[in-house]
Amino acid sequence: MAGRLEGKKALITAAAQGIGRASAEAFVREGAEVIATDINMDALGALKDQPGVTLRKLDVLDGDAVKEAAGQIGAVDALFNCAGFVHHGTLLDTTDEDWDFSFNLNVKAMFRMCRAFLPAMLENGGGSIINMSSVSSSLKGIPTRCVYGASKAAVLGLTKSISADYLKQGIRCNAVCPGTVQSPSLDGRINAFDDPVQARKDFIARQPLGRLGTAEEIAAMVLYLASDESAYTTGQFFVVDGGILN
Ligand SMILES: NC(=O)c1ccc[n+]([C@@H]2O[C@H](COP(=O)([O-])OP(=O)(O)OC[C@H]3O[C@@H](n4cnc5c(N)ncnc54)[C@H](O)[C@@H]3O)[C@@H](O)[C@H]2O)c1
Repeated sequence: MAGRLEGKKALITAAAQGIGRASAEAFVREGAEVIATDINMDALGALKDQPGVTLRKLDVLDGDAVKEAAGQIGAVDALFNCAGFVHHGTLLDTTDEDWDFSFNLNVKAMFRMCRAFLPAMLENGGGSIINMSSVSSSLKGIPTRCVYGASKAAVLGLTKSISADYLKQGIRCNAVCPGTVQSPSLDGRINAFDDPVQARKDFIARQPLGRLGTAEEIAAMVLYLASDESAYTTGQFFVVDGGILN
């Protein structure tokens, strides 16, 4: 099927690599006009030749920049809040600074993005917000994911709240919960172990399907939620996890 997002305008955060980039590419293939944003403009440049893509530097931790972007861009039909950070550690490994950084990036920035873009979406008659959570959240306790899991659980609460408050005004809000997905930051996490070869094996071993997910497999779900095919779906979370929650 082609043209699933024809005529739609979408904004994606953290679009320079991983799931965000794969989602930008999928949205473009299906006819959307895409505003691809990230803090890493060099990596974001990989999308420059995609038709219908505008590249924009946006640090989602910068509240003023978020407001300015919303003011300049106006209404979007789909907002994919993908930016997030995986902190590695148990509760006793987690400092106040780690906690605040993860909650600021994984939750508060998402709250601010939604708050900034929602008024124009409402004025425009509605739209779809897709929030990046994780299977490591209130759905499942995963070792060494203390603040990550807590922050991604908060994403589910935020998602349900937005859905409940604005569904009558045409806003749908859903969350995506991936398992372990091959991405540059996963490579970074693996390489930080003393034995990266064993660490990769361990990451794969926690996936019952016996392999890591691909960014494209998560983007397929994000695309569905951005499209009108999911018009009757809001306030839900969608697990794409290689069978972890089986
Ligand atoms: N990879 C996985 O296994 C996995 C699993 C579940 C959920 N997730 C979530 O998916 C999202 C993307 O992860 P990924 O692994 O696909 O990509 P990634 O972590 O490799 O890339 C993240 C991108 O976010 C950008 N970024 C960082 N801080 C930013 C900021 N302040 N403002 C804007 N952009 C910023 C980076 O420049 C980078 O391009 C994250 O929210 C992550 O928690 C990933």
